[in-house]
Amino acid sequence: MAPTLAQEISRVKVYTNGRAAAYAACPEWVARPTGRESGPVDLNVDAPRSGLSGPPGDPSRDWDWEDPEALAARMAEFSAELAECGSIEVAAENLPHTAADFAALGLDGIEFAAFRTRHPRGLGSDITAMHHGNSRTEFGRVYRIDGSALFTMLDVARPLPFADAAVDWVYAEHLIEHIPLPVAVGWLREVRRVLRPGGVLRLTTPDLARYIAGYADPAGGFFARHRRRLRLMRVGPPMPERPAFMLNQIFYHYGHRWIYDEAELRHVLGEAGFAADRMRRCSFQQGARTDLAELDTVFRNDETIYLEATAD
Ligand SMILES: C[S@@+](CC[C@H](N)C(=O)[O-])C[C@H]1O[C@@H](n2cnc3c(N)ncnc32)[C@H](O)[C@@H]1O
Repeated sequence: MAPTLAQEISRVKVYTNGRAAAYAACPEWVARPTGRESGPVDLNVDAPRSGLSGPPGDPSRDWDWEDPEALAARMAEFSAELAECGSIEVAAENLPHTAADFAALGLDGIEFAAFRTRHPRGLGSDITAMHHGNSRTEFGRVYRIDGSALFTMLDVARPLPFADAAVDWVYAEHLIEHIPLPVAVGWLREVRRVLRPGGVLRLTTPDLARYIAGYADPAGGFFARHRRRLRLMRVGPPMPERPAFMLNQIFYHYGHRWIYDEAELRHVLGEAGFAADRMRRCSFQQGARTDLAELDTVFRNDETIYLEATAD
């Protein structure tokens, strides 16, 4: 059963209070854990828009929404923190190659951009190394993280080290916007190759159309709700209200490289060889496979487009 927004927020609170929860959100969403955030979230949108003067340990400190480059450095720190775990064991010295190799590890699919996939048969993966004390994950091995989820390091800019038709499914939430357009096409081509015929790819990413509609809406409904959601998730100090800021941040913050609408996603999937009649627009937690759709994170659903493609 997929978690509700309230459950996701409470998981972030567990994470921020005890750093014990297996929460794999990106740094763009979750502020640095300080252990002091158990009180109610201040939703006061008139609060200062940068945390430059906050007390040491304040998750908003040194967080300046108006300075994308400084914020990028801050986000890199968060990424390293999110990749910290309680234990790392080598589960396999070599990567699975064929479908049989995946099955031998109890796997049948890959979740990209996930330190800890919640799919019981998924191989979580990210370009960032997970770490615990002096132990760090390396490319080329499979690790068991915190005694449960399997993880390996993969760079989607490189060919995938798996055989053709090796997996039943691929899931990637809010990854494609972080890589340049040609890298996205190459990665999707590789995804199509490693999916078995009939295998399903589910992609989620911020929806350019929602941002454009939000900018054009004089009432500012989407932008106001999105800013409120960021406050609920304790993401930095309140985001500036200016419509132009809200539009620019989705392009220039978080290491984003390309923002998609439905047509642009269909275009890159087509360039990668997926057939147009085997792509479908889906909605939050709805899709051809319930187990994949339920990987969708509720706190991303206000801004997200969901698309699936089936391999031939
Ligand atoms: C916005 S986070 C998404 C995390 C998670 N899926 C979520 O939705 O909360 C983007 C992730 O993409 C990963 N990433 C960026 N470039 C990558 C690459 N070339 N190969 C693999 N992962 C990459 C980053 O390390 C980061 O963990």
